[in-house]
Amino acid sequence: MNEHDSERYSGMFKQMGHIEVQRLKDADIVLFNTCCVRETAERKVLGNIGRLKHFRHEKPNLIIIIAGCMMQQPHVIDKIKKNLSFVNLILGTYNIHRFPQLLEKVLEKKNSKGPLVEVWDKPKSVVEGIPSIRKHKFKASVNIMYGCNNFCSYCIVPYTRGRERSRGKEAIIDEISSLVKEGVLEVTLLGQNVNSYGRDLYSDYDFSDLLSDVDKIDGIRRIRFMTSHPKDATEKIISTIKASENICENFHLPVQSGSNSILKKMNRHYTREQYLSFAKKLYEDIPEITLSTDIIIGFPEETESDFEDTLSLAKEAFFDSAYIFLYSKRTGTKAAESSHQIPEKVKHERFDRILLEMNKIAYEKNLKTIGSTEKVLVDGLSDKYPGNVYGRTRGNKIVTFKGDLSMVGTIVLVRILEAKRATLIGELC
Ligand code: 5AD
Ligand code: SF4
Repeated sequence: MNEHDSERYSGMFKQMGHIEVQRLKDADIVLFNTCCVRETAERKVLGNIGRLKHFRHEKPNLIIIIAGCMMQQPHVIDKIKKNLSFVNLILGTYNIHRFPQLLEKVLEKKNSKGPLVEVWDKPKSVVEGIPSIRKHKFKASVNIMYGCNNFCSYCIVPYTRGRERSRGKEAIIDEISSLVKEGVLEVTLLGQNVNSYGRDLYSDYDFSDLLSDVDKIDGIRRIRFMTSHPKDATEKIISTIKASENICENFHLPVQSGSNSILKKMNRHYTREQYLSFAKKLYEDIPEITLSTDIIIGFPEETESDFEDTLSLAKEAFFDSAYIFLYSKRTGTKAAESSHQIPEKVKHERFDRILLEMNKIAYEKNLKTIGSTEKVLVDGLSDKYPGNVYGRTRGNKIVTFKGDLSMVGTIVLVRILEAKRATLIGELC
């Protein structure tokens, strides 16, 4: 979501006549688009901004802007005003579209003291038509909804992105149709919980219906979506993927924990058994599906036995890949109030153990692809293997194979020859 917001900032910069430079020393304006899902991201950004303080002496007219989720937290703004008062502009997640006017204001009054702050505490309406500059010509992200209603007890997102707001289906279909006309082959539909798409707008149109409509767009070749919440993942979605031509056979379904007691404390509204039964149905109905997940290690009160439940679930669900996170205490969330925080040493020890296990599972799963033929959308030239290109299968696995620049942005057939832990090696068919 944040990366897509950054594409929009790039789009607005371009529309205002600014150009992107590669080296910091050539820049007149620097914008940090921040994330606050975990503390490490916050610490990094504050460190990076702090380092600019000295650079400022060389370039007194440098404009520094901070945007994104971190700015939706009042205590962070206080900290910036106090310790990083050389920042020129602060804006939040709900008023991205106001960026051009705010930047104009800052450019007019360069020498005023302290940052100009415009952060809204809630969204006003879904704003359409913000330009964006995409990282790739042939694939694009499209927001289908904003915000989240779930209040998982560890998560800051509902506080920084507000309640769920779906975009109208017509606006989404129009945007994707235009992207396809511009040469986009693959779209990723984005939302914090895509399975609840449309609940705030329609009584008889849901996420599966949207997927089916996107699948019908002339010229679209690949559709991905993220993120799904297990409590809302339905059999209708499975049958929609199965019946469609262009929806990729990959499901990202964050489980967070394999322990029922932790899932309850996380406020996730599903059990380990329900999760595994959905995974089973997925594998049965769509044999080529790949399953990826997010896991949090060291949630407050997590016991050794809770952790072992997560280990065993990972094996049973036979994940293709997993993003594993150390629990990070977020001010304002319910879990942060718990007096049973897990010691760092225990968290790290469990993290290392699950990483080892996940690597084994992913490798085992990758081995199963050897000999298969995969449709691969080529992303670019491989840095690691000169004379090779890399791309992604429909199941979202990275494959490297011999090729050249002319293949980038096309879909080619590749035979899988070798599996590694995180990637595959193949040859063009
Ligand atoms: N600590 C660690 N991981 C978190 N996530 C969200 N909040 C936290 C937190 N406080 C993870 C979840 C989510 C992913 C995007 O980030 O696993 O699915
Ligand atoms: Fe956070 Fe839970 Fe919403 Fe995902 S579903 S954004 S983890 S509150």
